[in-house]
Amino acid sequence: MTRLVSPSAARNAGPILAILERIAPPSGRALEIASGTGEHVLHFAHAMPEIDWQPSDVDPERLASIEDWARDHYGNNLLSPIALDATEPGWAMAHDPFDLVVLINLLHLISDTAAEAVLDGIAEALEDNGTALIYGPFLRNGQTTSDGDATFHAKIQADDAEAGYKDIEIITAYLQELDLAVTCQKMPANNIALIAQK
Ligand SMILES: C[S@@+](CC[C@H](N)C(=O)[O-])C[C@H]1O[C@@H](n2cnc3c(N)ncnc32)[C@H](O)[C@@H]1O
Repeated sequence: MTRLVSPSAARNAGPILAILERIAPPSGRALEIASGTGEHVLHFAHAMPEIDWQPSDVDPERLASIEDWARDHYGNNLLSPIALDATEPGWAMAHDPFDLVVLINLLHLISDTAAEAVLDGIAEALEDNGTALIYGPFLRNGQTTSDGDATFHAKIQADDAEAGYKDIEIITAYLQELDLAVTCQKMPANNIALIAQK
Protein backbone atom coordinates (compact mmCIF):
# COMPACT_ATOMS: atom_id res chain seq x y z
CA MET A 1 0.00 0.00 0.00
CA THR A 2 1.70 3.15 -1.12
CA ARG A 3 -1.08 5.52 -0.10
CA LEU A 4 -0.11 7.40 3.09
CA VAL A 5 -2.57 9.20 5.38
CA SER A 6 -1.94 12.26 7.53
CA PRO A 7 -4.62 13.19 10.10
CA SER A 8 -3.29 16.76 10.26
CA ALA A 9 -3.55 17.14 6.48
CA ALA A 10 -7.22 16.13 6.67
CA ARG A 11 -7.77 18.67 9.48
CA ASN A 12 -6.10 21.69 7.91
CA ALA A 13 -7.00 21.12 4.23
CA GLY A 14 -10.28 23.07 4.58
CA PRO A 15 -8.87 26.22 6.23
CA ILE A 16 -5.93 26.27 3.80
CA LEU A 17 -8.24 25.84 0.81
CA ALA A 18 -10.31 28.80 2.04
CA ILE A 19 -7.20 30.99 1.79
CA LEU A 20 -6.19 29.57 -1.59
CA GLU A 21 -9.64 30.31 -3.00
CA ARG A 22 -9.15 33.94 -1.93
CA ILE A 23 -5.59 34.47 -3.20
CA ALA A 24 -5.25 32.19 -6.23
CA PRO A 25 -5.59 33.47 -9.78
CA PRO A 26 -8.75 32.35 -11.65
CA SER A 27 -6.60 29.97 -13.70
CA GLY A 28 -2.96 29.10 -14.14
CA ARG A 29 -0.18 26.80 -12.93
CA ALA A 30 0.40 25.90 -9.28
CA LEU A 31 3.36 24.13 -7.71
CA GLU A 32 3.06 22.43 -4.35
CA ILE A 33 6.44 21.91 -2.65
CA ALA A 34 6.76 19.08 -0.09
CA SER A 35 3.36 17.60 -0.96
CA GLY A 36 3.74 14.82 1.62
CA THR A 37 1.00 12.21 1.40
CA GLY A 38 -0.69 14.00 -1.55
CA GLU A 39 -4.01 14.52 0.26
CA HIS A 40 -3.72 18.32 0.19
CA VAL A 41 -3.04 18.64 -3.51
CA LEU A 42 -5.85 16.21 -4.32
CA HIS A 43 -8.24 18.36 -2.27
CA PHE A 44 -7.03 21.57 -3.92
CA ALA A 45 -7.18 20.14 -7.45
CA HIS A 46 -10.78 18.98 -6.94
CA ALA A 47 -11.85 22.36 -5.54
CA MET A 48 -9.95 24.55 -8.02
CA PRO A 49 -10.38 22.86 -11.42
CA GLU A 50 -9.17 25.87 -13.45
CA ILE A 51 -5.70 25.56 -11.94
CA ASP A 52 -3.19 22.94 -13.06
CA TRP A 53 -1.56 21.47 -9.95
CA GLN A 54 2.00 20.16 -9.91
CA PRO A 55 2.75 18.21 -6.72
CA SER A 56 6.32 17.48 -5.65
CA ASP A 57 8.39 16.05 -2.82
CA VAL A 58 11.93 14.91 -2.14
CA ASP A 59 11.02 11.52 -0.68
CA PRO A 60 10.31 8.55 -3.01
CA GLU A 61 7.80 7.03 -0.55
CA ARG A 62 5.84 10.30 -0.48
CA LEU A 63 6.02 10.57 -4.29
CA ALA A 64 4.49 7.09 -4.57
CA SER A 65 1.72 8.09 -2.16
CA ILE A 66 0.95 11.28 -4.10
CA GLU A 67 0.79 9.26 -7.32
CA ASP A 68 -1.57 6.79 -5.66
CA TRP A 69 -3.92 9.49 -4.29
CA ALA A 70 -3.87 11.27 -7.65
CA ARG A 71 -5.38 8.18 -9.31
CA ASP A 72 -8.65 9.11 -7.57
CA HIS A 73 -8.72 12.41 -9.40
CA TYR A 74 -10.78 12.25 -12.53
CA GLY A 75 -10.15 15.82 -13.67
CA ASN A 76 -7.15 16.57 -15.83
CA ASN A 77 -5.66 19.33 -13.69
CA LEU A 78 -3.55 17.20 -11.31
CA LEU A 79 -0.16 16.33 -12.76
CA SER A 80 2.04 13.41 -11.84
CA PRO A 81 4.33 14.33 -8.91
CA ILE A 82 7.93 15.37 -9.54
CA ALA A 83 11.01 14.85 -7.38
CA LEU A 84 12.06 18.25 -6.08
CA ASP A 85 14.54 19.09 -3.31
CA ALA A 86 13.46 22.63 -2.47
CA THR A 87 16.60 23.24 -0.40
CA GLU A 88 18.81 22.71 -3.45
CA PRO A 89 19.95 26.20 -4.58
CA GLY A 90 18.67 27.10 -8.04
CA TRP A 91 15.91 24.46 -8.21
CA ALA A 92 13.44 26.95 -9.66
CA MET A 93 15.54 27.50 -12.78
CA ALA A 94 14.53 24.04 -14.06
CA HIS A 95 10.84 25.02 -14.34
CA ASP A 96 8.65 27.47 -16.20
CA PRO A 97 7.30 30.08 -13.77
CA PHE A 98 4.24 29.27 -11.64
CA ASP A 99 1.29 31.54 -10.86
CA LEU A 100 0.92 29.98 -7.43
CA VAL A 101 3.37 28.18 -5.14
CA VAL A 102 2.16 26.37 -2.02
CA LEU A 103 4.38 25.21 0.84
CA ILE A 104 2.79 23.58 3.88
CA ASN A 105 4.67 22.43 6.98
CA LEU A 106 8.28 22.26 5.86
CA LEU A 107 10.19 25.30 7.18
CA HIS A 108 10.21 24.17 10.84
CA LEU A 109 11.83 20.85 9.88
CA ILE A 110 14.93 22.30 8.21
CA SER A 111 17.83 24.64 9.05
CA ASP A 112 17.82 28.42 8.61
CA THR A 113 20.16 28.09 5.61
CA ALA A 114 17.94 25.47 3.99
CA ALA A 115 14.84 27.59 4.67
CA GLU A 116 16.48 30.55 2.93
CA ALA A 117 17.18 28.35 -0.12
CA VAL A 118 13.51 27.28 -0.16
CA LEU A 119 12.34 30.90 0.00
CA ASP A 120 14.86 32.02 -2.66
CA GLY A 121 13.52 29.26 -4.90
CA ILE A 122 9.90 30.24 -4.28
CA ALA A 123 10.65 33.86 -5.23
CA GLU A 124 12.42 32.66 -8.39
CA ALA A 125 9.72 30.16 -9.27
CA LEU A 126 6.91 32.73 -9.21
CA GLU A 127 5.58 34.38 -12.31
CA ASP A 128 5.42 38.20 -12.10
CA ASN A 129 2.32 38.94 -9.98
CA GLY A 130 2.39 35.32 -8.80
CA THR A 131 1.49 34.42 -5.22
CA ALA A 132 2.93 32.02 -2.68
CA LEU A 133 1.22 30.54 0.36
CA ILE A 134 3.59 29.41 3.11
CA TYR A 135 1.82 27.68 5.98
CA GLY A 136 3.04 26.21 9.23
CA PRO A 137 3.97 26.80 12.87
CA PHE A 138 6.24 29.77 13.65
CA LEU A 139 7.85 31.55 16.60
CA ARG A 140 6.53 35.02 17.43
CA ASN A 141 9.33 37.33 18.61
CA GLY A 142 11.48 34.28 19.19
CA GLN A 143 8.92 32.49 21.36
CA THR A 144 6.60 29.54 20.92
CA THR A 145 2.99 30.37 21.72
CA SER A 146 1.66 27.19 23.34
CA ASP A 147 2.91 24.27 25.41
CA GLY A 148 2.29 21.94 22.47
CA ASP A 149 4.39 24.12 20.17
CA ALA A 150 7.19 24.39 22.77
CA THR A 151 7.28 20.58 23.07
CA PHE A 152 7.25 20.01 19.30
CA HIS A 153 9.92 22.69 18.67
CA ALA A 154 12.16 21.13 21.38
CA LYS A 155 11.66 17.65 19.93
CA ILE A 156 12.65 18.81 16.44
CA GLN A 157 15.76 20.51 17.83
CA ALA A 158 16.68 17.42 19.87
CA ASP A 159 16.77 15.47 16.59
CA ASP A 160 18.51 18.23 14.60
CA ALA A 161 19.91 21.26 16.47
CA GLU A 162 19.85 23.38 13.30
CA ALA A 163 16.15 22.76 12.58
CA GLY A 164 13.12 24.07 14.49
CA TYR A 165 10.42 26.70 14.27
CA LYS A 166 11.39 29.86 12.38
CA ASP A 167 10.57 33.33 13.62
CA ILE A 168 7.67 34.82 11.68
CA GLU A 169 9.24 38.30 11.76
CA ILE A 170 12.52 37.00 10.29
CA ILE A 171 10.81 35.00 7.55
CA THR A 172 8.59 37.96 6.67
CA ALA A 173 11.61 40.29 6.45
CA TYR A 174 13.48 37.74 4.31
CA LEU A 175 10.57 37.48 1.86
CA GLN A 176 10.37 41.28 1.69
CA GLU A 177 14.10 41.41 0.84
CA LEU A 178 13.23 39.13 -2.08
CA ASP A 179 10.82 41.85 -3.28
CA LEU A 180 7.69 39.99 -2.23
CA ALA A 181 4.77 41.79 -0.56
CA VAL A 182 3.82 39.79 2.52
CA THR A 183 0.69 39.48 4.64
CA CYS A 184 0.12 37.09 7.56
CA GLN A 185 -3.03 35.36 8.67
CA LYS A 186 -3.52 33.45 11.91
CA MET A 187 -4.77 29.91 11.34
CA PRO A 188 -6.22 27.18 13.59
CA ALA A 189 -3.90 25.37 16.03
CA ASN A 190 -1.52 28.35 16.30
CA ASN A 191 -0.37 28.06 12.71
CA ILE A 192 0.23 31.00 10.40
CA ALA A 193 -0.40 31.45 6.70
CA LEU A 194 2.08 33.79 5.01
CA ILE A 195 0.87 35.15 1.70
CA ALA A 196 3.68 36.49 -0.45
CA GLN A 197 3.07 38.25 -3.76
CA LYS A 198 5.69 39.00 -6.39
C1 LIG B 1 5.65 17.47 7.71
S1 LIG B 1 5.62 16.86 6.08
C2 LIG B 1 4.41 17.96 5.36
C3 LIG B 1 3.72 17.33 4.21
C4 LIG B 1 2.51 18.11 3.69
N1 LIG B 1 2.90 19.37 3.10
C5 LIG B 1 1.49 18.30 4.79
O1 LIG B 1 1.41 19.40 5.34
O2 LIG B 1 0.80 17.35 5.11
C6 LIG B 1 7.13 17.45 5.40
C7 LIG B 1 7.33 17.04 3.95
O3 LIG B 1 8.46 17.71 3.45
C8 LIG B 1 9.17 16.85 2.61
N2 LIG B 1 10.54 17.36 2.50
C9 LIG B 1 11.51 17.28 3.42
N3 LIG B 1 12.62 17.89 2.98
C10 LIG B 1 12.32 18.37 1.73
C11 LIG B 1 13.06 19.08 0.75
N4 LIG B 1 14.34 19.40 0.96
N5 LIG B 1 12.46 19.42 -0.42
C12 LIG B 1 11.16 19.07 -0.63
N6 LIG B 1 10.42 18.39 0.26
C13 LIG B 1 11.00 18.05 1.43
C14 LIG B 1 9.04 15.51 3.30
O4 LIG B 1 9.34 14.43 2.44
C15 LIG B 1 7.59 15.55 3.75
O5 LIG B 1 6.74 15.06 2.75
